[in-house]
This record gives sequence, C-alpha cells and structure tokens, in this order.
Amino acid sequence: MTAAKHTDESFNMKSFTGTQGTAFEALLARRSHSKVTGDAPQHDEIARLLSAMTSIADHSGLHPWRVIEIRGTSREQLGRALAKANGTSKEKGISKATRAPLILAVIASPKKSKKVPYWEQEAVATGVAHALGLLLHEAGWGTMWRTGHAARHRTVRRAMGLEKREQLVAWLYVGGIPERDAKPKPRKPLDLKRHLSEL
Ligand SMILES: Cc1cc2nc3c(=O)[nH]c(=O)nc-3n(C[C@H](O)[C@H](O)[C@H](O)COP(=O)(O)O)c2cc1C
Repeated sequence: MTAAKHTDESFNMKSFTGTQGTAFEALLARRSHSKVTGDAPQHDEIARLLSAMTSIADHSGLHPWRVIEIRGTSREQLGRALAKANGTSKEKGISKATRAPLILAVIASPKKSKKVPYWEQEAVATGVAHALGLLLHEAGWGTMWRTGHAARHRTVRRAMGLEKREQLVAWLYVGGIPERDAKPKPRKPLDLKRHLSEL
C-alpha cells in the first residue's frame, strides 16, 4: 500500500469511512469522540474487525490478547468496581462506565514463552487496541480510549474476570458519532525533528 499525498483540500472525513481509503488517510482522519450516541456495533461487526488482527506484528505469533465486549448492565458492574478503585460514589462510577453503549476491553493475555518477554506481548495487545480504534472509526463509529490508574486495581481486575498474568491495556468506549461531531479534527503538524532522527 502506498502512502497517499495528503492535502488540506483532500481532507474530508466522510471520504475515509468505508474501505476505499489508504491506511495513511485513515490514520490522518482518525479522532476520538468523548461523547457518543446510544448506537453500537453488533457482536458480528466486532468479530469481523478483529479478524483483521492476524496482521498485527506479533513475535512468535502468540496472539497474546483478547477482547471483552461490555454492554448493557454489565457496564454497571464495571462502574461499581471503578467507584471502589477511585474512592468515588457508586453513581459516579456507573455514570462513567455508561458513557457509551459498548466498552471493548482489550486485554494483554501473555503466553508462557522463553523467547518473548512480557513487554513484547503487551505491545501486541496495545497494537490491537490502536488498530481496532482505527477500524471502528473507519467504519463510522466513535471511540475513546480510556484507562487510568483504576484499570490495574484489583477490584477492577476481578470485575473484569482477568487472570493473574493478564493486564488491561484499553477500554475503548464505542458508540455512534453525534451529527455535530461528524467533522475532521484539526491537528497541529508534528515537529518531525523531534520524532525522527538518524543514528
Ligand atoms: C493508553 C491510553 C489511555 C488513555 N486514557 C484516557 C483516559 O482515561 N481519559 C481520557 O480522557 N483520555 C484518555 N486517553 C486519550 C484519549 O483516548 C484521546 O486519545 C485523547 O483525548 C486525544 O484525542 P484524539 O485521539 O482525537 O487525538 C488515553 C489514551 C491512551 C493511548
């Protein structure tokens, strides 16, 4: 896939939904949506998007990740755990966890390996979270990656049903994009001198 030349004139988020665009265009167009509507992708759509994760870079092909769909009242279970972890009221925790109709928890689920250290396996799960957010955006869904310290609190881990070696890397809050937010997000250009050098 070749990188498309990006100009301000060509920047139009609508043209980046669907599957016509390049990865370069999709990445330029990606943005988070902190507020989403009550629509959510169904299980089959999530499964289809995850089927593309076969190409995520993955040392030894361990597939050391899994995704948990959290919908409906299961979000309240998470919200109660968040409240406990953050020392806030149950209502506050529940209102945080119900900001979107669907939360996708991306979990690093490391496999025993002499060759592949834990951090490499967590990097694979993080790659899945980034790619999944990108694909959801391309499909026209709003997402917001949220975690924070509570994500690794034992109460939250228990509520999520994590095994000992597992770690949560992302909660992707997913929902419909409100009409007023269906527009590109202006970005400051990167200072590439800071991010790209030669040895
Ligand atoms: C690992 C990770 C954790 C994050 N956790 C939070 C969070 O808890 N709350 C929050 O407001 N933003 C969080 N963010 C940032 C948002 O997902 C989002 O990237 C940010 O608001 C900037 O918006 P943009 O993605 O459109 O540039 C997190 C991002 C990452 C990568």
